[in-house]
Amino acid sequence: MEKIVSLCKRRGFIFQSSEIYGGLNGFWDYGPLGVELKKNLKDFWWRRNVRERDDMEGMDGSIIMNRAVWKASGHEETFSDPMVDCKDCHSRNRADQLPEKNGEKYCPNCGSRNLTEARDFNLMFKSHAGPLESDDNLVYLRPETAQAIFVNFRNVLDTSRQKLPFGIAQIGKAFRNEINPRNYIFRSREFEQMEIEYFCRPEDGMQLTDYWLEERLKFYEDIGIPRSKIHIKDIPDGERAFYSKKTYDLEYEFPFGVSELEGIAYRTDYDLGKHIEHSGKPLDYFDEATKERLVPHVVEPSAGVDRTTLALLCEAFDEETVTDEKGNSETRTVLRFHPRMAPIKCAILPLLKNKPPLVEKARAVATSLKPFMNVFYDEAGAIGRRYRRQDEAGTPFCVTIDFDTIGENGPEKQDTVTLRHRDSMAQERIAIADLKAYLLEHIL
Ligand code: GAP
Repeated sequence: MEKIVSLCKRRGFIFQSSEIYGGLNGFWDYGPLGVELKKNLKDFWWRRNVRERDDMEGMDGSIIMNRAVWKASGHEETFSDPMVDCKDCHSRNRADQLPEKNGEKYCPNCGSRNLTEARDFNLMFKSHAGPLESDDNLVYLRPETAQAIFVNFRNVLDTSRQKLPFGIAQIGKAFRNEINPRNYIFRSREFEQMEIEYFCRPEDGMQLTDYWLEERLKFYEDIGIPRSKIHIKDIPDGERAFYSKKTYDLEYEFPFGVSELEGIAYRTDYDLGKHIEHSGKPLDYFDEATKERLVPHVVEPSAGVDRTTLALLCEAFDEETVTDEKGNSETRTVLRFHPRMAPIKCAILPLLKNKPPLVEKARAVATSLKPFMNVFYDEAGAIGRRYRRQDEAGTPFCVTIDFDTIGENGPEKQDTVTLRHRDSMAQERIAIADLKAYLLEHIL
């Protein structure tokens, strides 16, 4: 993890939030490469789950909603973690994460066993809507995106004319005042979720939960996280939420241990039922074919953007020993992202920066590709060093504009470039005219 964290800072993937003021525990900023990586992930999720399907609709709800939503969903009452205070150093820790020695829990900060009893701590951040700070206008920052989907179920149904089964998908920020944020961006206090609520007839719920498990495993494979690295935890009876008939946790082998990436929960009609009860509104469904009214059941695949981004970084990180032209060995650090996730798709490199025809040509190639993908132009330093810089950023392709390109070695090679592959470091010659199609085919 240390190596990954240091690379992420050095290359501009992730910074500590408010760093110049000492940071803020549980909050992170994404830099130029990090924001591209995260955007590629979200865009691909949206493409797979919304645009490529006829049975899904997208939405984007507000972060702050009427407090009644959180009363109905049960979050105001029960969305809490057990917390314990250390009576000696006054640090506060999650009761279920305290270290233990000889059967006795102790404070991870000072080692003291002088701890308070566990008590519940609600994880929702509070604020007030409007100028008065009273209980009447208390609001919460949403701790999950899902509730905005449930309360909009009828709006989406009525405007989209979908029929069961169908889903509503949303990507957005969520906030939890975690007692102990930890493991870098794995557990933070501000994060993003990618959630689907897939509404169905009650008799289809179990089978659709297995269907979504398979869909989600395929998704991870298609972004470069192999199935062999994902552990499927079938949560047993008694450990699931009381309303859930089936829950799978998908866990990834992070360097700090196997930990949750996503949950796929069959939540029955619990959420819509609760909102019907509390709002008094008819959030049910009329089946034209059977002339039957029913409250749909729901299967919820809920993934974390930041956790998946971290998994992408961990999976991509590699160090290998390579030998340069002079026979010296060195360590090559490379992020082996799937090309569709890579923050920079292609680097355009003129062989020399003091040769105007090379520079001109390289800039023209970069400009022609920019509307289609994230391209990086770099003319500074020896070509080998520039390749290494791109390896560290995870750029799958480098294009070098050399004297052949500008026709100095005869017409056959004019308007061709060297295409260098990140993983194999192999190089091939390709016509500029074919470059865009080649790259698009590999990054889509
Ligand atoms: N609507 C269901 C729900 O929110 P969850 O298991 O609490 O379920 C879903 O959260 C996903 O959101 C998790 O699998 C994880 O990827 C992400 N997530 C939850 N808490 C997080 C945190 N504190 N930091 C980063 N990601 C988090």
